Amino acid sequence: MHEFYEDEPELQQELTSVRATIVKTVESSHGFIRALLLSHVQSGGKMLRPALVLLCSSLGENSDRKRAIEVASVLELIHLASLVHDDIIDSAKTRRGVPTIFAQVGAKQAVLAGDYLLARALSLVGSDSGEMDSRVISNALGRLCESELEQDAGQGDFSISKATYYRRIAGKTASLFALSCYAGSAVAKVTEVEKMVCHRIGYAMGMSFQIQDDILDYVGSEEKLGKRTGKDLKEGVPTLPLLLALEAEKAMPEHDRKLTILLSKKSGPLSKAAVAKAVSLVVALDGVQKADSIAQSYKDRALKDIQTLRDRKTAIQLTQLFEKLAVRSG
Ligand code: FPP
Ligand code: MG
Repeated sequence: MHEFYEDEPELQQELTSVRATIVKTVESSHGFIRALLLSHVQSGGKMLRPALVLLCSSLGENSDRKRAIEVASVLELIHLASLVHDDIIDSAKTRRGVPTIFAQVGAKQAVLAGDYLLARALSLVGSDSGEMDSRVISNALGRLCESELEQDAGQGDFSISKATYYRRIAGKTASLFALSCYAGSAVAKVTEVEKMVCHRIGYAMGMSFQIQDDILDYVGSEEKLGKRTGKDLKEGVPTLPLLLALEAEKAMPEHDRKLTILLSKKSGPLSKAAVAKAVSLVVALDGVQKADSIAQSYKDRALKDIQTLRDRKTAIQLTQLFEKLAVRSG
């Protein structure tokens, strides 16, 4: 299991069970796609969503660990399905340094492989599941798809507002984090109020996580991330560091707005040299530093809510998970 959880043996053990549940679920797939799916589901991400489900499911006095592991598996399978589709949209050749399903079998089969994972995820939800009724799941999935659609439709448009950016990342990342915490707390059968607090914690964590992820696209290490910096710019996707840098330029005389000028000149994707130039301008204009302080304020919001949880052990575990996430560089 991922070294990220090395100081949490119980959580690590349950995450191993989540992985085993997912492998078992995928093993029943057709021979044609089985090997590909198995390598995708075993490719070793941080399993953050299932970790959030498992932690929040420990909030109650008598939590059902078997159900918690099933619900955690649903969240990870949904996430894995969305990555298969995302790699098709991005024409990504590798993810975490290994060839994507898209690169291995092409878009047609990769779409179906992603659909298959989603179908298997829904099979684990169960027909009578108070904690994850179909409305809650359909809401989160709908938001995932809407924000990807919106991002794709706006590809190459670097002039979006911060509100648009926040809406996109809320849909593509925070919604699943929020669902993870909410569904976990529902397994624990805590009060409605505490379930809503968990939803908020997941949401703020997801926002902070995605902003940090977007920062890493400007300053991350290629070796650790398995992808080059400037990928978002190259793909025409504006993120918070860029938007804040462009905002800073608005206070300057027009002829000094190097970043604005660089991005407005383009027709089609930016060249490698333009991407490198834009990345260094964003850093010089404090875009990264300012984005980092916004990520920090989401983090503070989550930590404040975590402090209100009655179960101290879980509150400490969530805080520690969050602290570790905040120092990641890939
Ligand atoms: C990765 O983020 C992508 C997502 C978090 C969401 C992708 C969602 C869809 C494609 C909608 C379809 C959903 C399902 C459930 C089938 P990113 O693009 O910022 O990160 P990356 O650099 O890892 O690609
Ligand atoms: Mg992507």
